[in-house]
Amino acid sequence: MRTPSQSLLSWSALLCASGLLSSLFSVGVAVKENDFKKCHQSGFCKRNRDYADKAIAQGSSWQAPYKILPTEASFKNGLFHATILKSIDDKGSTVELPLTVSFHKSGTARVTIDEKQRQEKNIELRHNSQARKERYNEAETWAIVGGTTVDVDAKGSYSGDSGIKIQYGPNSTFEADIKYDPYSIEFKRDGYAQLKLNDRGLINLEHWRPKVEKPVAEEKKDDGENAEEKKEEFPAEPEGEDESTWWDETFGGNTDSKPRGPESVALDITFFGYDHVYGIPEHAGPLSLKETRGGDDAYTEPYRLYNSDVFEYILDSPMTLYGAIPLMQAHSKDSTVAVFWLNAAETWIDITKAKESKNPLALGKGPKIDTQTHWISEAGVMDLFIFLGPTPSDVSKAFGELTGTTAMPQEFSIGYHQCRWNYVSDDDVKEVDRKMDRHQIPYDVIWLDIEYTEEKKYFTWDKDMFKDPISMGQQLDAHGRKLVVIIDPHIKNIGSYPVIDELKANSLAIKNKEGRDFDGWCWPGSSMWIDCFNPSAIKWWKSLFKYNRFKGTMENTWLWNDMNEPSVFNGPEVTMPKDNLHYGSWEHRDVHNINGMTFHNATYQALLSRKKGELRRPFVLTRSFYAGSQRVGAMWTGDNQANWEHLGASIPMILNQGVSGFPFAGADVGGFFGNPEPELQSRWYQAGAFYPFFRGHAHIDARRREPYLLAEPYRTIVASALRLRYSLMPSWYTAFHQAHRDGSPIIRPMYWTHPSSEGGFSIDNQFFLGSTGILVKPVVSRGKTIEDIYIPDDEAYYNYFTYQQLPTKKGKTLKVDAPIESIPVLMRGGHIFPRRDIPRRSVQLMKFDDYTLIVVVSKDGTAEGQLYADDGDSFDYQKGEYIHRTFKLEGSKLTSTDAEGRDAKYIKRGDWLKNMQDVAVDKIIIVGAPSFWADKKEVKLETEGKQSIVKLEYIKGAANQGPFATVGRVGAKIGADWTIDFT
Ligand code: NOJ
Repeated sequence: MRTPSQSLLSWSALLCASGLLSSLFSVGVAVKENDFKKCHQSGFCKRNRDYADKAIAQGSSWQAPYKILPTEASFKNGLFHATILKSIDDKGSTVELPLTVSFHKSGTARVTIDEKQRQEKNIELRHNSQARKERYNEAETWAIVGGTTVDVDAKGSYSGDSGIKIQYGPNSTFEADIKYDPYSIEFKRDGYAQLKLNDRGLINLEHWRPKVEKPVAEEKKDDGENAEEKKEEFPAEPEGEDESTWWDETFGGNTDSKPRGPESVALDITFFGYDHVYGIPEHAGPLSLKETRGGDDAYTEPYRLYNSDVFEYILDSPMTLYGAIPLMQAHSKDSTVAVFWLNAAETWIDITKAKESKNPLALGKGPKIDTQTHWISEAGVMDLFIFLGPTPSDVSKAFGELTGTTAMPQEFSIGYHQCRWNYVSDDDVKEVDRKMDRHQIPYDVIWLDIEYTEEKKYFTWDKDMFKDPISMGQQLDAHGRKLVVIIDPHIKNIGSYPVIDELKANSLAIKNKEGRDFDGWCWPGSSMWIDCFNPSAIKWWKSLFKYNRFKGTMENTWLWNDMNEPSVFNGPEVTMPKDNLHYGSWEHRDVHNINGMTFHNATYQALLSRKKGELRRPFVLTRSFYAGSQRVGAMWTGDNQANWEHLGASIPMILNQGVSGFPFAGADVGGFFGNPEPELQSRWYQAGAFYPFFRGHAHIDARRREPYLLAEPYRTIVASALRLRYSLMPSWYTAFHQAHRDGSPIIRPMYWTHPSSEGGFSIDNQFFLGSTGILVKPVVSRGKTIEDIYIPDDEAYYNYFTYQQLPTKKGKTLKVDAPIESIPVLMRGGHIFPRRDIPRRSVQLMKFDDYTLIVVVSKDGTAEGQLYADDGDSFDYQKGEYIHRTFKLEGSKLTSTDAEGRDAKYIKRGDWLKNMQDVAVDKIIIVGAPSFWADKKEVKLETEGKQSIVKLEYIKGAANQGPFATVGRVGAKIGADWTIDFT
């Protein structure tokens, strides 16, 4: 019998085939929570939660049945090897689990546990499966790019047969205390316990076992007409274990054949003295993660990571969304540590908080709250990395070293993107472009959703509606603008379509469990999915993007990858069957959460090779992601709704991306489903102007809402938000560069910038922009005209627009007027940030404009900041072709010097640097300028061996404006050293 959800899915497939699917997603249809599993419906999650309950119920008499054999343990050259024995019955039977703990020069430690019998492929697969026998151990080939050089200087000292202590990290201040029986590892910093693996004894690796076919009892159910024989299974062996989902599992009418039987890995990790944990995106909930089993305001479900197409997702929920980064940071006053759980299978994480720290030495001070976590993954090796901080930026840096940092973006891509599903024709695109100009609204990119194709066949154009894509691209190019087109991973399975023919002929599609090309339903109807784990598939994918193959695209065409979880309309939980097979015969179950990243990566690679000799930074937006996706593009938070709650939710979600290593993030501005009222739309643009990725997008059924369609005053309000974004572009680009260099978030939550300001640890609706000192709190409620901003320190704070110094107090909130035409934006004293103040149509047209510097004087009269600039397009910055300045106000001098101490003489000059030679600092605004400058009219400028006099104007301030000074027509070259002397 078909379940209701099955019939719905095939109905949707039918609708989809006839091009009507959009109506299924029409406004007001919220996500069907029941289409996605809860923990008790996911066999391995339930088993591990039950296991935890039993263990916890036994209290101190519980001992995990896992121990290290001392005779087989060794530590040498930064590597600890041992075998963990798992007892599996009362008769002394054990299974061997090889353990490696490695200590890295980067300061991270890695703990990997495999299963010998599977490693040796000494198992039998059921159902004639062609899957691999080992536990998946290739996640690192996708996620890890560095930071794993082993620290051969790590020192070990054995404590008899009970364990070993290993000192590592900076000045050997880190320690791993490995206990043998039961197995556990406690990590310490400066002698204090920070976190412990298997603290509560919940470790569980479901070892391989053959399915014991039970005798079958036959019984007659009834004697009626429909009498049927019922096969009753005898109880499982060993007694007490819940075998019901070991060998197959059915959900929503789909059965997973599980050829390898149960194979989950689970571990508990306790963070001692830490009462906040952050990370593990993607979820729509608060930045400071909630408890999931008991506690105030707790969720009842664990956080789930199983990349899924969850349209119109619910808020304040641990439910899975489109992407997964299994990095969790634990934070308490002055200390941050983290764990990265490198696993690509379906994963659940329970969080509880123990009110009293078991370890009185934890941090030695402060409240003693332990955060206890329980990580449960369906398959794969157990593999995790430990970071001991001590600061949030140390963790971001180390995670960046490990998984890579955000790619230097195409500069245009941090401008504003205008999207909707769909701009219907090339004329439509041209008209929107003209209207944006007519209304003097800056933008950089216009997007084409799936309807531009001929019947959802990617790499084709709907010939009736897009008659001349090149002329469309050329019109955009005239003002430096770009086009982004969507290409999804499902390929229409239809005749006379070369792309599907090639996919099939070269066997590059993901296979079903029988090893044949998997066919499922998505936008085009019957489809197949490219398997980007296969190097040959990437090679082929590259060939499709060449300009002479994907005709109609040109140098200003860039890419959008959607539906790459992957979304399969008629698949289990709207995705692929777990027993599908990928390259290397890995089951989809093993690699699911990495799948989206492999597709994103293939498109990135393809854009690098569109034309021989053309080496430009690709721009590719993805919906699905994993740790490492930051290296190849941007992400957005998927199908949100046009309501205030979703606007509010976007901020913690984007902040969470930032602290989880993938900061190039945004949410659909205006809300995807529905029609925002003008106030909501305006507030959303004001917030969006501070998203690292800033794109307006709308569902096909939503009304047109390009900013120029708004009535006044809203049109002006939105245009001003956009201009604010554009004027701050140099600061955004500098923040991106910093993220690229050291993994730091682009917009930063309070705990990250002020790790000792406890009042800020739960705050996730305000943030700093890079290191500019610009503090933003977008308004996310209807009718709100006053905002409370939390002030994390003792510094001076000024209103961004009026320069007024505000009556702030450390640790208290400040009331800021926020009428609809204004955004609550403050400037923190002590920073200098760059702007470009001439309003223009696009980023490219601002490329060689002069700069304005804003100097925001701190309480002690100093300020410091940076500018990074390069051609915003090529990889020449890797050869040193960039400008990177440090500006400093100290005493009476303001200076600009090379941020890296490079001598200008030795910097190789290409075209971009040559063009920048005449670009200058035009204006300097000194906010909080000392009042004794009031009579000053001029100051001395010294640059390039010459001295000159430049004008200073001091403005005393008025009721609605603070005092400030401007130095006008400075004329010092942006790339040169200079000093301004204010004496
Ligand atoms: C789902 C995406 O989330 C949405 O942004 C897009 O418009 C539709 N797919 C159609 O491509």
